[in-house]
Amino acid sequence: MAPTISSGLNTPESELESILTIHPTALRRPNAILVQSVNTRYTQDHITATFHNRGATVDVSHGQFTVTPTIQSYEFQTQRTVGKTGLMMIGVGGNNGSTLCATILANRHNITWHTKSGIQHPNYIGSVLRASTVRIGTDGTGKDVHVPISDILPMVHPNDLALGGWDISGVSMDKAMERAKVLDYDLQRQVAPHMALLGKPLPSIYYPDFIAANQEARADNVIAGTDKQAHLEHIRADIRKFREDNSLDRCVVFWTANTERYSNIIPGVNDTADNLLAAIKESHSEVSPSTLFAVAAILEGEPFVNGAPQNTFVPGVIELAERHQSFIGGDDLKSGQTKLKSVLAEFLVNAGIKPLSIASYNHLGNNDGHNLSAEPQFKSKEISKSSVVDDMAKGEHPGPHRGDQNTSTINIFNECEDSLLATPLILDLAILTELLTRIKYRKVSAEIHKQEFAPLYPVLSLLSYMLKAPLVKPGTEVVNSLNRQRNALETFLKACIGLESNTDLLLETRIW
Ligand SMILES: NC(=O)c1ccc[n+]([C@@H]2O[C@H](COP(=O)([O-])OP(=O)(O)OC[C@H]3O[C@@H](n4cnc5c(N)ncnc54)[C@H](O)[C@@H]3O)[C@@H](O)[C@H]2O)c1
Repeated sequence: MAPTISSGLNTPESELESILTIHPTALRRPNAILVQSVNTRYTQDHITATFHNRGATVDVSHGQFTVTPTIQSYEFQTQRTVGKTGLMMIGVGGNNGSTLCATILANRHNITWHTKSGIQHPNYIGSVLRASTVRIGTDGTGKDVHVPISDILPMVHPNDLALGGWDISGVSMDKAMERAKVLDYDLQRQVAPHMALLGKPLPSIYYPDFIAANQEARADNVIAGTDKQAHLEHIRADIRKFREDNSLDRCVVFWTANTERYSNIIPGVNDTADNLLAAIKESHSEVSPSTLFAVAAILEGEPFVNGAPQNTFVPGVIELAERHQSFIGGDDLKSGQTKLKSVLAEFLVNAGIKPLSIASYNHLGNNDGHNLSAEPQFKSKEISKSSVVDDMAKGEHPGPHRGDQNTSTINIFNECEDSLLATPLILDLAILTELLTRIKYRKVSAEIHKQEFAPLYPVLSLLSYMLKAPLVKPGTEVVNSLNRQRNALETFLKACIGLESNTDLLLETRIW
């Protein structure tokens, strides 16, 4: 029989690499960048780089702006060894969770599949880290040199993530993928045996008050009882066991379960870390499952990311994360409509054109849409979607009076595969989060050698590019502009290897 190009469970792993090429977005490229500079030091364990943070303070008085440039230097230290990393998803049996697991397994086993257009290769297209590039300089002929973002610093390869998690639905992972109806049949067929090896999700916390009543039918895999302290201990034990079973150095805990209703912020209940811990002990009704998961991760010293819109991060959670110097990030994955809307708003405003109104209609499908058809859960989504263009319009100059001008309307219809857009975001968030736990900093001063390196602030606002309603350090401004979010990320990653941020000045092309 002629050798088959399609792999699947029965093809020995060693043969795959020789038969099939690996998609560029899935390639391993260790040590791709080496910076030669007095600002960058390499040891076996660390990359340490000096970065000059340049800014300006502005004094406004009687219409006069007095600008004083500022500069403060820092050292960033990145641990070079990428530890064994796990990704535990809450809602792993849903569309996003099952699609992400299948994507990783298809890449790990290099499974190709047939569609009506031909043979498809597994890849990580859609991942900003693996499929988009940054410019790092010019070669000897003056041509720009770009590298994938994932080459800038040592990052986890998605194929290496240990996969696990919880779901209130006890359907096994191969069946969950089938139920999701996201992937092509020929891919499902081949990846199913690998998915089956993941087994069924761990039982989860289910408080019917927090998600839509229409989800009750699938809640057959729940942790017994109503004691919230016992539920917290249960989840902490699950995280510890997963870490031990898979010999993990780091385990990112990720909420991709259904959107919950908003939690009321009640003084004495969830407004401080101590009040929240006491409220959990008393099984207070306003403590949501997602908040319990976040608290469990923080107490286990593992990062927690919220991919849904609800206010998991009540003030008590943020204070607890600060206290334990444990990392958190959220909220809500920025996939189809929101991304398009914010990019368009930014383009118009930057072009000096004033959008008068933005109206969007989102026709949701699948089980998530079903959950969002209930009013309290929809409210959470509405809040997270509502302010995505606010800061972009803020610096705008007031437009002229419209008089009898015609209104120009941009009408856009975009149809997207929700879970295929969301899964690369989950991957990027998990990989970046793991990286940010390995980066420390200290201020450059005369006393620098007496200073210890400190971890970054617990709220990881550098994740904003992938999030609809970015959680930021309390008291600081939210940046929704996609360009500014990407610039911040690129500048930070480059700073960690001692490179200047991106400049499109290209001065050498403007002068003699
Ligand atoms: N897909 C996207 O483009 C996108 C974009 C932004 C946000 N999101 C958010 O991501 C989340 C997941 O989306 P999806 O399409 O995968 O939804 P889904 O309904 O297919 O999956 C959610 C899963 O969560 C499970 N679940 C519900 N409550 C749970 C709990 N307390 N513990 C454990 N499991 C629980 C459900 O059984 C289900 O399997 C939703 O909150 C959605 O709003 C998705």
